[in-house]
Amino acid sequence: MAKNYKRYLITAALPYANGPVHIGHLAGVYVPADIYVRYLRLKGEDVLFICGSDEHGVPITIKARQEKVSPQDIVNKYHNIIKKSFEDFGISFSIYSRTTSKIHYQTASDFFRTLYDKGEFIEKTTSQYYDEEVGQFLADRYIIGTCPQCGNDSAYGDQCERCGTSLNPTDLINPRSMLSGSKPVMKDTFHWFLPLDKYEKDLRKWILEDHKDWKPNVYGQCKSWLDAGLQPRAVSRDLDWGIPVPVDGAEGKVLYVWFDAPIGYISATRELTEDWEKYWKSDDSRLIHFIGKDNIVFHCIIFPAMLKTHGGYVLPDNVPANEFLNLEGDKISTSRNWAVWLHEYLEEFKDKQDVLRYVLCATMPEARDNDFTWKDFQARNNNELVAILGNFVNRTLVLTQKYFEGRVPEQGSLEEYDRQTLTEIGNLKQVVEENLEQFRFREALKAGMDVARLGNKYLADTEPWKLIKTDAERVKTILHVSLQISANLAIIMEPFLPFTTAKLADYLSIEKLCWEDAGHTNLLKAGDVLKKPGLLFEKIEDEVIEKQLKKLQKIREQKNGKSMPDVKPQKENVSYDNFSTMDIRTATVLEAARVPKTDKLMQLRLNTGIDERTVISGIAEYFKPEDLVGKQVCLLANLEPRMIKGIPSHGMILLAEDADGRLVLVTPENGVANGSEVK
Ligand code: MF3
Ligand code: ZN
Repeated sequence: MAKNYKRYLITAALPYANGPVHIGHLAGVYVPADIYVRYLRLKGEDVLFICGSDEHGVPITIKARQEKVSPQDIVNKYHNIIKKSFEDFGISFSIYSRTTSKIHYQTASDFFRTLYDKGEFIEKTTSQYYDEEVGQFLADRYIIGTCPQCGNDSAYGDQCERCGTSLNPTDLINPRSMLSGSKPVMKDTFHWFLPLDKYEKDLRKWILEDHKDWKPNVYGQCKSWLDAGLQPRAVSRDLDWGIPVPVDGAEGKVLYVWFDAPIGYISATRELTEDWEKYWKSDDSRLIHFIGKDNIVFHCIIFPAMLKTHGGYVLPDNVPANEFLNLEGDKISTSRNWAVWLHEYLEEFKDKQDVLRYVLCATMPEARDNDFTWKDFQARNNNELVAILGNFVNRTLVLTQKYFEGRVPEQGSLEEYDRQTLTEIGNLKQVVEENLEQFRFREALKAGMDVARLGNKYLADTEPWKLIKTDAERVKTILHVSLQISANLAIIMEPFLPFTTAKLADYLSIEKLCWEDAGHTNLLKAGDVLKKPGLLFEKIEDEVIEKQLKKLQKIREQKNGKSMPDVKPQKENVSYDNFSTMDIRTATVLEAARVPKTDKLMQLRLNTGIDERTVISGIAEYFKPEDLVGKQVCLLANLEPRMIKGIPSHGMILLAEDADGRLVLVTPENGVANGSEVK
């Protein structure tokens, strides 16, 4: 960073608009980015902070299909939820835009067109799996089948999650489409490819030689990609959701989401200001991408290659990616609901945004994955925010009210210890600054808290509450010093705890915070009138934490099938004779299909051992047809036939209902012959 930058362009990864955001997002990307931006703003730098929703890509189309709404409905819903969560947590974007905006379509199309007109793309025809039932080419992730290595029958087209082998879709035995369950067929298709191999040499130099300053985790990942050799990468897809490829003869093809999304940073800047080119196209702009580790290759290799090929744009000067945050020892997972969602956090912990910001910064997965636990959350709140920062500020303000009617007392004559203490503030500010410049947020936060620790020690050593009876002059000096420390805290902690420092600045009647002021010891003048203080933090009790742990425990149990539902009382006794009139048999599902125009009903074709028959069952919400075929079930075979939606149903399959009202099949433990009696 030897260069003299005039302005900053800070981006935070555009989150996918297919679900709300959770603590992993915040800790990995948005909290560090926001701390950094707030710090720059306090320093008076010219900075834009860019983000928005990433609204294209296959997962969004799948979510839309699941919820039976359009992809646009999905992204509208989650864009608003995500945007609100960021606002609620004080993530201070200059703009939060979205990739379905008109300006983005224009920008991304133009970008593609420029590369196309320069003849930068290669066009290639390849053979790819295609789902004839839904009429769609299948991304590798959406093909499942049996792993040739370990026999796992639900391996993905790119990887078997059981044995870890990385796969090609054609390696799978018995491939099935995750969209319809049908057997995919190979079909030719053509796409535009970005010849990354052509840029490999330049990228090697740019990253491995010129950017040795990047974080080791980022540098290391780039190096291993580069060492493995870069391949041309397709930048288009056969999909009906996305930005149409802007050339003739490209019907049904859209830009690959990872091509359009990073251009979203540019579109959002254009939307924000007419001056956007100053930020994107001047050498003295410093571009920094905050991202999570799964985005490294896109931001360090592919997007820079795109920008360079296009020409005229600055390249990122740094890409401070974080590793992942786990939750109570397990990987955060949206699909398994293993997460602390930001909007749910705020329902439980109203006005405690800063507590979460603090804990996530203190445990930020900077160099390796890290774990969020509720016990640690509680401990950090009670032992650090309450006991150190809150306690120091509160004692200082309360004593000032009590002894001096809330007026800043005269500094008086300083003793050596006072001078040392005041000097130390400046040293600590320096440490915060050095760490922030290096994207070491945990260390920076620790140094900031050391200012409060310094204050606490100062009060404990000088004991003004004892001296007040004998030496009121000395107490004036002590509280004067303590108030200067408090004012420094309002500035130094602002990037980390913006809500708290706003309160603190208000108590101290400080109007404008400015980084250059920190380290100075004349931020408050004798005679300044302070407001009546409230508490900055409050203790979090065990019950509150227990409640959160219970909630997670429930999710764990559901996953393991151990959940105890609200058990209904037993029904009245029946005679054995009565029971034995029911003819329950084992049967195998031969075919399954949803009953059209219903949400719940599934039409099953069963081999009962006795015959083949049709049964209608209300399980369509819980199963996909392809999950049922081949499964053995228990069937109440002699239930009187009934017409359901015009289809005759011959019997009823047995289901168990779990705590959430979800239905699961009752299946014989080991396969048995169809037609076996259940008794
Ligand atoms: N949506 C991606 C993710 O959540 C990030 C996109 S970042 C951008 O992993 F650069 F493409 F915008
Ligand atoms: Zn396997």
